[in-house]
Amino acid sequence: MASSNPRYVCQECGHEAHKWMGKCQGCGAWNTLVREEPKSEVEARVPKTSSNGASGGASGGAGEHGQPERLTEVELGTDARLQTGSAEFDRVMGGGIMQGSFSLIAGDPGIGKSTLMTELGGYLPERDILYVTGEESKRQVKLRAQRLGVDSDHLYLLAETNVEQIGDAVQEVTPDLLVVDSIQTIYRPDLSSAPGSVSQVRESTASLLKMTKEQEFSTFLVGHVTKKGTIAGPRVLEHMVDTVLYFEGDQHHAYRILRSVKNRFGAANEIGVFEMREDGLHEVPNPSELFLSERGYGVSGSTVVCSLEGTRPILVEIQALVTPTSYNTPQRTVTGFPSQRLQMLLAVLEKRAGLAFSDHDVFVNVAGGVTLDEPAVDVGVALAAASSFRDIPADTGSALIGEVGLGGEIRTVSQIEPRLKEAAKLGFERAVIPENNLERVAGEHDLDVTGAADLRDVLDLVL
Ligand code: TYD
Ligand code: MG
Repeated sequence: MASSNPRYVCQECGHEAHKWMGKCQGCGAWNTLVREEPKSEVEARVPKTSSNGASGGASGGAGEHGQPERLTEVELGTDARLQTGSAEFDRVMGGGIMQGSFSLIAGDPGIGKSTLMTELGGYLPERDILYVTGEESKRQVKLRAQRLGVDSDHLYLLAETNVEQIGDAVQEVTPDLLVVDSIQTIYRPDLSSAPGSVSQVRESTASLLKMTKEQEFSTFLVGHVTKKGTIAGPRVLEHMVDTVLYFEGDQHHAYRILRSVKNRFGAANEIGVFEMREDGLHEVPNPSELFLSERGYGVSGSTVVCSLEGTRPILVEIQALVTPTSYNTPQRTVTGFPSQRLQMLLAVLEKRAGLAFSDHDVFVNVAGGVTLDEPAVDVGVALAAASSFRDIPADTGSALIGEVGLGGEIRTVSQIEPRLKEAAKLGFERAVIPENNLERVAGEHDLDVTGAADLRDVLDLVL
């Protein structure tokens, strides 16, 4: 198995080839194969524990060897979480930063990753934080910290990219929190490939993971994303870390959403909402209010849905515009919602409710730059399109909840109660929900809850 032949690794997807090729066989990207040293050499140098990083928990899975132990005898210890005091940030982390946890925060350039990491210094002025900057100078970080009003005496800056030097600094500072900005700039001097290459990213991460688990501080790695929006570097990176956070948002909007797509210590898909201002990120404690603030009343094509993001219900406005097409193939343009799903909903409306979209262009937009990916918003999206098609405004006092099946039936959704509570809190008078969910609606609500079995029922109710 061990061979000294060179290998060529795709920098986008990590696919390996034995000879150089212009196009990666794995993901189809062009010019992404880079020669890296043979695996046998790398493996010989990588500490064995790094490969089981995936099983490492807060109690120090990596580096913890030895005897099998009965489940009943395993000691839990205390659930040591570091509360940052930022409710939005803590929620996404599952109630605070778990001691010994290893997290990755990824996002587009300029979205605010470094800003958020610098703000940790402001959230936790009493904690020793080592901020390793591989992209900016210490001066640049200090200027940013000044702008953010962060002047913690316990925030240490280190401009370094060599993972061994970072290890030395960790020994010296013994931080509670280590920030590495960004993992793509970090390298291990014993590997010949360039920083940012798949093997450097993987092996540097393995070294940092080992430090984190052995010394039980918490680490945040900042990661870049590729053009396709996935984390640059090997996919294995996502398996190695305990938490994967995405910092999302539209460069042209001030709103930023921190989303946990993986969390070993809390619910995945939990979101925190922030607003980027001149003096940094501000928490948005009630995102529904914000997403509905610019809502148009009395216009056709607007509905309000209630989507569950992690454990949190959020009301968002859906806008649709349906116009006669001047093309042979009508346009379908959608932002913030899967376009395949929109096609399906339009087909169902056409077949089951007789709305012929085939000679109309359809534009759908989720307000506020939010991305919704939950079937429970189907009814709202379908109704927005129907409302614009008929040019009749939908009832503005109704929040719409439900998944649409291919037969036009409205299917049950999970967690109906918190959704209704949120709608009531925001002053909605009525919620249209799947009929089969009605029996699960327990408590009293300040709003009128109506069940619907079929998409046509909803059309009658709100248009
Ligand atoms: P940054 O955190 O450097 O982004 P990343 O590390 O994800 O690449 O933030 C970059 C943008 O944020 C930059 O365009 C300026 C803006 N910004 C503010 O609007 N307010 C602020 O207080 C700060 C520090 C940055
Ligand atoms: Mg940055």
